[in-house]
Amino acid sequence: MKGLHRIAARCCALLLGLVAAQGALAQATAVPLDVLHWWTSASERKAADQLASHLAQAGVQWKDAAIPGGGGMAAVKVLKSRVLMGDPPDVAQLIGTTLTDWADVGLVLPLNAVAQRQRWSQQLFPTVLELVTYKGDVVAAPLGVHRINTLLYNRKLFARWGLVPPRSWAEFELVARQLQAKGVRALAWSDEAWQIATVFETLLLGDAGAPLYRELMVQRKGSAWLDPRVERALQRLRWLRALATEAPVERVWADSARELLAEGAGMMIMGDWAKGELMAWGASPVRDFGCVVVPGTEHTHLYSVDTLAMLVSPRAREAVQEKMAEVVTALPAQLAYNRLKGSVPVRHDVDPSSLDPCARDSWETFARSRSARVPSLAHRMAADEAIKDAVAQVLWRYLTDARMEPGEAQRRLAAVIRAPGAER
Ligand code: GAL
Repeated sequence: MKGLHRIAARCCALLLGLVAAQGALAQATAVPLDVLHWWTSASERKAADQLASHLAQAGVQWKDAAIPGGGGMAAVKVLKSRVLMGDPPDVAQLIGTTLTDWADVGLVLPLNAVAQRQRWSQQLFPTVLELVTYKGDVVAAPLGVHRINTLLYNRKLFARWGLVPPRSWAEFELVARQLQAKGVRALAWSDEAWQIATVFETLLLGDAGAPLYRELMVQRKGSAWLDPRVERALQRLRWLRALATEAPVERVWADSARELLAEGAGMMIMGDWAKGELMAWGASPVRDFGCVVVPGTEHTHLYSVDTLAMLVSPRAREAVQEKMAEVVTALPAQLAYNRLKGSVPVRHDVDPSSLDPCARDSWETFARSRSARVPSLAHRMAADEAIKDAVAQVLWRYLTDARMEPGEAQRRLAAVIRAPGAER
């Protein structure tokens, strides 16, 4: 009898504990989480709204603090000033090295408990888990994997003129000349520094190959930047720009995607968020546009992983922040969000046949053990904000000043690249 009482008492205590924990979560979830991010294009907006609606079903309210600006140039600055003013958001789109920078100063809430409960070590791709792990702590909730080495083309134009999606630079040149002969711009283009850097790193990967790319971007060996393969990529960058446009043009990436869809341009090199954007406007990756990898980068995945970090704040939101991390990484939100965003889920347990053809190739390449997965510098996966900006500035100067020889650009790049550990 005594034993029974003891068991009943323990059950009661457990139940009360559970009710109390749920009560605390319910109280916490009544207050929305302030989320700072840079997703403002049509597809980015839809994808963020999709996350918000999954979260709402779990009782977590998303208060939007979107800062426009492709590649997050403005958002990163606003975040800095909010933190300095003592008003950090509860959640921020911190990615790659910016994440570890903020974790270093103790601003990021560790998510080890959620990661353990949700078995992230078994569910997520190792590259992704590694990226969000810093000094033994899991410091962000990963959302999706973008592929940077993506070449989009307008299927209707290609079909009309019997063009074949290029697999090599020779084929690319042939297609480009044919498009030009028909009065269509070969390649949609923008001179925004981060977009130039995005195109350049895909060329570099193609010309240098994954091992040298890693020496350049990950180990950041200054001397490796003087390699002739870097020179080739720089020459190719200039050649591509000349094919694309004569006049300087700085425009947001979504405008280039618009030009591609409107048959004003035949091809576009951009991270696959551009695919998400085309789909947000109703275009289909089977009927209207297609994607192949940038020539020379087959079996390689140049990635940028979007992540949300939970920031430490005096408002004590840990319970609801953990709930957010749990919901956004769970399979239903992962599938729905990534379909809209153009990226692919960060998880293993996805049926690739449910993905569109571009996403399927991206996900399968990322998942395959023998593929080379290499981090994007232009999107903060390989080096900090200062190095990324300095590299983008050199490339911008090189492209806008025709007198600068590739050798000079190489020397400047070697000078701005600092090896890990020598960053501060
Ligand atoms: C990247 C980000 C993507 C997309 C893109 C364009 O840095 O990972 O999610 O937003 O910028 O703004």
